[in-house]
Amino acid sequence: MTAASAPGKVILFGEHAVVSGATALGGAIDLRAKVTLQDLPGRILIDANNLTLRGFSFDLITGQVLSAEAAHATRYVSAVLKEYEAKDLRVKVESNLPPAAGLGSSAAIVVATTAALNQHFGLGLSRKEIASDAHRMEKAVQQGLGSPMDTALATFGGYLQISRRVQPLDLPSLEIVVGYTERAHDTRSEVEKVQSLLARYPDLVGPIFQAIGAISSRAVSLIQEQRLEELGEMMNINHGLLEAVGVGTRELSELVYASRGAGSAYGAKLTGAGGGGCMIALPPTGGSAALITALRQAKGTAFSVKTGSEGVRLERDL
Ligand code: MEV
Repeated sequence: MTAASAPGKVILFGEHAVVSGATALGGAIDLRAKVTLQDLPGRILIDANNLTLRGFSFDLITGQVLSAEAAHATRYVSAVLKEYEAKDLRVKVESNLPPAAGLGSSAAIVVATTAALNQHFGLGLSRKEIASDAHRMEKAVQQGLGSPMDTALATFGGYLQISRRVQPLDLPSLEIVVGYTERAHDTRSEVEKVQSLLARYPDLVGPIFQAIGAISSRAVSLIQEQRLEELGEMMNINHGLLEAVGVGTRELSELVYASRGAGSAYGAKLTGAGGGGCMIALPPTGGSAALITALRQAKGTAFSVKTGSEGVRLERDL
């Protein structure tokens, strides 16, 4: 047996603006997808049922009823198996990352599957090659969209600053609370919506993206020096700018306001593409539990994560 795991991520600053070349900042989180491979001569079996079950769908090929989460995972694992012409395997996927929520679940699955195959079949891929292959495969499944942020964070972990290129940053870990609206989002349609706004109003949206890029750059030293109140202010400004380009929703706003009010957060913003998915909030020291309670009272699913977590790794303790 061979197993590998890879982390999910949060975009701290810069989503959408990064698509047009502005700077973004993201961190790997301590929620992971794990992929285990076992030889299974003559067959390929993808077992993705060990995920949190919610809605159901029907797999036309196998005739099996799959949860939405399992269908999502199966699509990405199949793409990786096809890429490396891998067969005679049982592939088990376990993950505690909600899919289609902006937390990098698909990138974590693609990277963990690639790393596990790399080990199992001695493919000789370097980390850099795993990151770039995974980006290409994720993009293909998502029909041509997606910055390298998710797959790079799933591979290298830590923090990354992304503009035209990807730069690792050595920054301390942050404790952040994630609020999930339980509404899946469609990254592609949100990106298209914002890009269309930019094309129609370049004189307005251009400066908004520039301001978002400046926030991402400014945030680096604030995290380095643990100036959390100012970092919270940066989150609030970034959220307002994302609202301005139309990716906010009522549910996300309710969680953002609950965080800043009852939750006493230093700041809060949506994370990822918007239109649903997740928001993040920065609790004062020791304030995570109160913030989680405030988010649950506002009807969100809430949990705390640590940023700057380790990238893809082989799992030996089977
Ligand atoms: C989605 O997680 C982040 C976006 O900036 C798109 C991307 O960077 O690929 C909206």
